[in-house]
Amino acid sequence: MTVPESTVDRWKYYDVIHADQAFWNPLSEAKVAEIIDLLRLPAGARMLDIASGRGEFLLRTVERWGGSGIGVDASPRCIDGAREAAARRGIADTVEFVQSDGAAFEARAESFDAVSCIGASWIWGGYRGTLEALTRWTKPGGLILSGEPFWKREPSPEHLEATGYGHDLFGTHHGNVLAGEEAGLRFLHTIVSNEDDWDHYEGLHCYSADRYAREHPEDPEATAIVERSRREFDHYLRWGREELGWAVYMFRKPL
Ligand SMILES: C[S@@+](CC[C@H](N)C(=O)[O-])C[C@H]1O[C@@H](n2cnc3c(N)ncnc32)[C@H](O)[C@@H]1O
Repeated sequence: MTVPESTVDRWKYYDVIHADQAFWNPLSEAKVAEIIDLLRLPAGARMLDIASGRGEFLLRTVERWGGSGIGVDASPRCIDGAREAAARRGIADTVEFVQSDGAAFEARAESFDAVSCIGASWIWGGYRGTLEALTRWTKPGGLILSGEPFWKREPSPEHLEATGYGHDLFGTHHGNVLAGEEAGLRFLHTIVSNEDDWDHYEGLHCYSADRYAREHPEDPEATAIVERSRREFDHYLRWGREELGWAVYMFRKPL
């Protein structure tokens, strides 16, 4: 029996398809490590990561630079996993994970040395709104990191129709840099996913869905999860691989 896709809880689906990767975005581990190195956070820094997934980016940043952090994610599965990881790694007293919609999260303005949102700009209606929200929480002189898709070339109508993406949902890579500058930020750096990074990220979704289905034959939703992951991989192979890019952008808020 095929369970309609819409009945699969979205947090469950994302949890299953990302089970075999630390980061829920198409950057390689080496590229994420480079970003964390470049942060050069001051002693006692406070970091905020909105849409923190299973917390890996925040946990590795606090392990690298010390200080403390708050991770916010809407998924109860992500928050449970992140809290368990923080406890296992002995930093649960300095890294807090809050289950909340990012748009509803409240914190004092200009109270964090670095604020990130890697791969969830829909929270504030798009990339520009995301930069605004992250900037509000960042101390003058602090860092802003945003992970965002971009069109590598004009998207085909078939791609837009199959995925439901609007043409204006994403800008270009250059446009994403300029948007930060137009928001009053100083551009520092960007790191881009290459095809190998994307293949690894997207391919593993199918692998993880298959592994879940084999390990949970009792789950009536397992087949729907496998089918959805395969359909999404098809969109990627047909169109996304040629048309869609992904990068993390690093900016500094002026003093
Ligand atoms: C593409 S994943 C990125 C996760 C993480 N930043 C990373 O790079 O590994 C998007 C994340 O956004 C979370 N999310 C989706 N909608 C959200 C919302 N409205 N508020 C907060 N988190 C949300 C999901 O649970 C997921 O963890």
